[in-house]
Amino acid sequence: MTTKPTYLGLLNAISNGETQAARYFKAWLDLTADPTVRSVLQVVVNREAEHGLAFEKRLLELGYSLIERPSPEAEAKLGVLSDPNRSDLDKILYLGYGEPRDDPFGRLFDDHSIDPQTGGLLGRYVAEERDTIRRLRALAETLKDRSAQKAA
Ligand SMILES: [Fe+2]
Repeated sequence: MTTKPTYLGLLNAISNGETQAARYFKAWLDLTADPTVRSVLQVVVNREAEHGLAFEKRLLELGYSLIERPSPEAEAKLGVLSDPNRSDLDKILYLGYGEPRDDPFGRLFDDHSIDPQTGGLLGRYVAEERDTIRRLRALAETLKDRSAQKAA
């Protein structure tokens, strides 16, 4: 007898969130000519898009399929990040990377029924997301420093 995994909703939510994030970060990447910003955003966009697909793939392997969930919050971010009149600094501060942030991933492994393959995927996902946060935090500090130097 196979029982329905308890973590399908988690996989579905991550896939949706990552695909939406890839879209809004890509909109920003397409608008910026700054090489420092571009090099960070290229990694971020690639990772977010791949996470969206990898979690959908895992749902399919488990015998289920992705349920698309539109997100007003992601739409709002897309609106801001695709605005050509906003600066890169503006955009990164809007996303909240100007300040240290709480780690949102601590409870992901509380569910002890997670199968090893899904667990491996989740582990890689968490490590990459944390690295993404470090890169975006560092980029925010670089852009803040630059704008402070300009103002001085
Ligand atoms: Fe993400």
